[in-house]
Amino acid sequence: MTDKVDVIPAPARCSSDSAGRTGIGDRTALEARPGTEGVARWLRATVGAATGLPFPQADGRDDRLVLSIDPGLPAEGYRLVTDALPMRVEGGSAAGVFYGAQTFRQLLSPDAFRRAPLRSGREWELPRITVEDSPRFRWRGLMLDVARHFMPKEGVLRYLDLMAAHKLNVFHFHLTDDQGWRVQIKRYPKLTEIGSWRARTKFGHRASPLWDDKPHGGYYTQDDIREIVAYAAERHITVVPEIDVPGHSQAAVAAYPELGNTDVIDTNSLSVWDNWGINPNVLAPTDNTLRFYEGVFEELLDLFPSEFIHVGGDECPKDQWKQSPAAQARIAELGLADEDELQSWFIGHFDKWLSARGRRLVGWDEILEGGLADGAVVSSWRGYEGGITAARAGHDVVMCPEQHVYLDWRQDDGEDEPVPIAHVRTLEDVYRFEPVPSQLTEAEARHVLGAQANVWTEVMEDHARVDYQTFPRLAAFAEVAWSALPAPGERDFADFERRMTAHYARLDALGVGYRPPTGPLPWQRRPGVLGRPKDGPPPNA
Ligand code: ACM
Repeated sequence: MTDKVDVIPAPARCSSDSAGRTGIGDRTALEARPGTEGVARWLRATVGAATGLPFPQADGRDDRLVLSIDPGLPAEGYRLVTDALPMRVEGGSAAGVFYGAQTFRQLLSPDAFRRAPLRSGREWELPRITVEDSPRFRWRGLMLDVARHFMPKEGVLRYLDLMAAHKLNVFHFHLTDDQGWRVQIKRYPKLTEIGSWRARTKFGHRASPLWDDKPHGGYYTQDDIREIVAYAAERHITVVPEIDVPGHSQAAVAAYPELGNTDVIDTNSLSVWDNWGINPNVLAPTDNTLRFYEGVFEELLDLFPSEFIHVGGDECPKDQWKQSPAAQARIAELGLADEDELQSWFIGHFDKWLSARGRRLVGWDEILEGGLADGAVVSSWRGYEGGITAARAGHDVVMCPEQHVYLDWRQDDGEDEPVPIAHVRTLEDVYRFEPVPSQLTEAEARHVLGAQANVWTEVMEDHARVDYQTFPRLAAFAEVAWSALPAPGERDFADFERRMTAHYARLDALGVGYRPPTGPLPWQRRPGVLGRPKDGPPPNA
């Protein structure tokens, strides 16, 4: 029995009858049975490029790797057998085969994560092993905020590869916010002409007195989005787009001032926001706004095949609606009690609109305030409470409580920590995150679709900062989302740390600028940046 392979996330079961190793060389063929051709393409393009192994078409000899689908396995599960020839990866679906191929790559060598071989003619080998594995959760998500700092397309594709290497399968693409609109909408060109650029950026968090005085921006064309979605699909990742409404919308209002509360402020004077925090300039709850965003979502549905479409719904201050005669008239006309119900009405409109088109609305947990729309799925970010309430009401939820899986939170209290946001959340804290709250019954817990790590980028101006904050903690998160608990309530952090030694070598080969266990390297430090303060005692829940 071998349960000590260095695979991350930890597989459900590994066994081995022999200590020997299986050799792999230029002669080792690849046989892709029906439905697995995409995985074979991926193996040749990545592992093939890294190792120089040609993986020729199989010609009947035993020295080969056979990819096949076994419908008897769990849909995303796989069996990987390397202790007999031919070697086999069997999956419950193409996704399962893909995850088996990811484990194959990890077992091969950290060098299998490079883009080209270090030398030619090298012999490769694998432990002789049988791995049987399947995920605990169907939603294993990463949210990337490309609105606060734009990540050019190449960086997004790279993150999809990094997700795939960790068996993550939902990419929540935070495309719009007060500080930038990042997706081309053909019928509203000003969203990107005006909304995708800001004149300058606050250096550090909102309390900082410094701006960088450099324009910042960028956006994805619709063809860029199609490419990203297709690249993700080849890696069995669903891209869930987020258009954040009715708050976090200043970039849209700067582009189309009629979307704002024109009877409260002069929205013509607004520009794309150059500060951080919660912004008061929210959308006006008018028919014009609804029609406008229907137009946005129409184009979005054409680009994103995902069943789930995220509409934000978080942090929408109600001050302008309180002051706005038009918003108050709308509340009266609809017979609503208050501004919270007005927000529910707004979200409910898009819930029905999306449902009528075969999609499901997802929103941050504020969408619970004022009543939850019928089919809505909740992203529980302000702790577990929203998720618990929603699951008890029969709604599906994605658990992403900030105190555990907000990867913008600082990793250490040291002076030279470059992203000093909120409280310290270490690798071990993330590893010990449990997505299913103990308060839920078994039936309620079935509404927990899974978990998601969120990367907000106010203080991450480039991909090196994003790498630093995201890794190694995303590896710990991946294990939370994929691997069943070894025993109820238990995870073995010492064993995870032991396996991380091999995983750091993989991240090095991938060129990931993770935070080293010993703290930031000299070039990763950034003295003087003001972070979001630690308000109050650290949350423990
Ligand atoms: C959020 O962090 N405002 C969802």
